[in-house]
Amino acid sequence: MNISLKGKRVFITAGGDGMGRATAIAMHDIGAKVFTCDIDEDSLKTLPQGIETFVCDVSESSNLDQIFDEILPQGLDILVNNAGISGPTKPVEEISDDEWDSCMAVGINAQFYCVRRVVPIFKKQQSGVIINLISGAGILGFPNRTPYSAAKWAVTGFTKTLAMELGPDNIRVNGIVPGNVNGDRMERVISAHALADNIEPEEVRRMYAIGTSMQCFVDPEEIAHSICFLASDFGKHISGQILAVDGHTETLYPRS
Ligand SMILES: NC(=O)c1ccc[n+]([C@@H]2O[C@H](COP(=O)([O-])OP(=O)(O)OC[C@H]3O[C@@H](n4cnc5c(N)ncnc54)[C@H](O)[C@@H]3O)[C@@H](O)[C@H]2O)c1
Repeated sequence: MNISLKGKRVFITAGGDGMGRATAIAMHDIGAKVFTCDIDEDSLKTLPQGIETFVCDVSESSNLDQIFDEILPQGLDILVNNAGISGPTKPVEEISDDEWDSCMAVGINAQFYCVRRVVPIFKKQQSGVIINLISGAGILGFPNRTPYSAAKWAVTGFTKTLAMELGPDNIRVNGIVPGNVNGDRMERVISAHALADNIEPEEVRRMYAIGTSMQCFVDPEEIAHSICFLASDFGKHISGQILAVDGHTETLYPRS
């Protein structure tokens, strides 16, 4: 069984680093024409040749509109709504308007801005795949991470609703729930959690691991490979699913 995306055109948000980057590279490797964007120009410069990049802050719809004006005339088959920021780690009463709004803007608003641009094309061609990045915080509660959790629960609702609304047009919509993903962002999240709870980072790392049945962290490439499978024809009748790639998260906040 060889997964191929030969001839498919894909747009991935925030492909400069982390899972977006891993997904851009994996999809490029199996034949897709990949377009991606990121707020960090330097990270985009280090992507493999052939991946087409745009510098863009996805929290502004006009930025995304400019990209879509350029790429949609060439057609599109797959949208990966990957961008999402972790937001603050603090009690709800200490969260500022800006902290709340930026988490929503990148985490859920940007997904909406992308979806409303690609859906008319997908409907016209009567095919299309949308994959939204969620989080354990979008299917479970996560104390001290209210903006992030609220944004991700919004993505879960958005995903399920889009799958129902667009299914009759042969447009598939699924969500991916990454677990504890190794990388710089996880290190930042662990440090912030340790500071907020006044415990050692190693203790936070241990808590996150034991919150999963398999007591694990996962690599960005594992998420990328699951996205490739879902986007490929092997997933042609998979829609409306929220797929966790996380060793089965039981809780995001073990109180041990
Ligand atoms: N890392 C984890 O453990 C984890 C776990 C669960 C869910 N997620 C979700 O998975 C997705 C990818 O996470 P990640 O950890 O790979 O991301 P990341 O934090 O590593 O960031 C990836 C890229 O996003 C870019 N970015 C940030 N703000 C942007 C903006 N406004 N516009 C454009 N680009 C922007 C960054 O420059 C970076 O290159 C996110 O939606 C995240 O919420 C991550």
